Amino acid sequence: MSTLFERILDPANRADPYGLYAELRRQPICPQDDGTYVVGTHAEIDRLLHDPRISSDDLPDPQHFRWTGHPITDLIVRPVRAEIRKRHRPFIFRDPPDHEALRGRVMRAFSVARVRGMRAKTERLTRELIDKLAGKTRIDLVEEFSYPLPVTVICHLLGVPPEDEARFHGWATQLATALEPNQRGDEATQIKNEETFAEIADYIQDLVKAKRREPEDDILTDLAAGDDAERMNDYDLIATAVLLLVAGHETTVNLITNGMLTLLRFPEHLERLRREPEIAPRLIEELLRYEPPVHYRTRLALADIPIAGTTIPEGAPVVLLLASGNRDPSRFTDPDRFDPDRRDNCHLGFGGGLHYCVGAPLARIEAEIALVALSRRLREPRLLADPPPYRQGASLRGPSALPLAIAGVG
Ligand code: HEM
Repeated sequence: MSTLFERILDPANRADPYGLYAELRRQPICPQDDGTYVVGTHAEIDRLLHDPRISSDDLPDPQHFRWTGHPITDLIVRPVRAEIRKRHRPFIFRDPPDHEALRGRVMRAFSVARVRGMRAKTERLTRELIDKLAGKTRIDLVEEFSYPLPVTVICHLLGVPPEDEARFHGWATQLATALEPNQRGDEATQIKNEETFAEIADYIQDLVKAKRREPEDDILTDLAAGDDAERMNDYDLIATAVLLLVAGHETTVNLITNGMLTLLRFPEHLERLRREPEIAPRLIEELLRYEPPVHYRTRLALADIPIAGTTIPEGAPVVLLLASGNRDPSRFTDPDRFDPDRRDNCHLGFGGGLHYCVGAPLARIEAEIALVALSRRLREPRLLADPPPYRQGASLRGPSALPLAIAGVG
């Protein structure tokens, strides 16, 4: 008999895990047979995200996680050679003080002006991708739209020359296979992913050298700048650049795809967005609550933590089920209703606390431009499969394809 959390992780329940989350929330902190503690209520997740006794560092090796549901660790940490792995993990897996130093550098490079400056480029890319759909009556929104947009945007921000973008698309596609638990177990795929990581690392190292010789207006130039004493070392630079590529890619693909899926399930909201594009920011916040791309994140308890009548023991892995917190009726009125007019929407879609998503402003801009343009330009879009097929991952959850029938593009 499988436990509730095992059922949540079972790909058979990927299309609709929300009923299982409701069952799980009957108990705020759920200890599992393997010593992991799963947390599904909003107040407790929020508390733990802000608790300094909770660590993102020194997570147990992903193999320890029976459900192999730790995609970003697998993607970024495992392929890196052991000694680098120890000292130069990407900062999503580090605690203070290292975390603050690295994150601070990235936040400065990810300036408001730079992110706002991506608007025009994102609008142009969106227009071009939709133009390519002209003449078609059946499309796969993931392959033809949601997937290519974010990788091109992040390449541009990092400062990858346009002629090399196609290689980044290939790398992102290859690394995405590491997100599929069934493929990840396959040795050939693992070897390929390690090779891919090595290729990206070599590429970024060369690019960094070029940026130091000829600085440009981009994130890699900013991260690589400074004299030897203050400069980010090359290992951290590579880990950070790959983190930005990976953390910002699959997530944004899923936000756009989940967005269209939800709007097609509730066509009155699609029609409203078409007529009133100014509702887009609120609608996107509601999507981040209702169908978030990241369903859970893992942590480690650094001390005994008494919470909600239970004590999470020192050393225990902790799963923060953000997507369940987003549907918690003790925090949100009528939580299973998609309601873009919702007030006080303090969703957990971008996490919270020290590790709150660095790319949130960029993701919001991309999703807004994409969904407004799709709502205006796709004529009579209709879902050809509901539910669509899903990627197997339980943490980064999203459709692997979104087949649509359309009557053309406007
Ligand atoms: C962290 C979600 C887009 C870069 C996070 C976290 C979440 C998240 C939940 C917290 C992780 C944790 O607490 O362990 C999302 C979603 C996105 C998105 C839903 C799109 C809809 C992006 C983009 C970028 C990005 C576009 C950058 C290009 C990062 C980074 C971190 C992070 C660097 C680590 C922050 C830290 O550890 O301090 N994201 N993200 N994300 N995200 Fe995003």
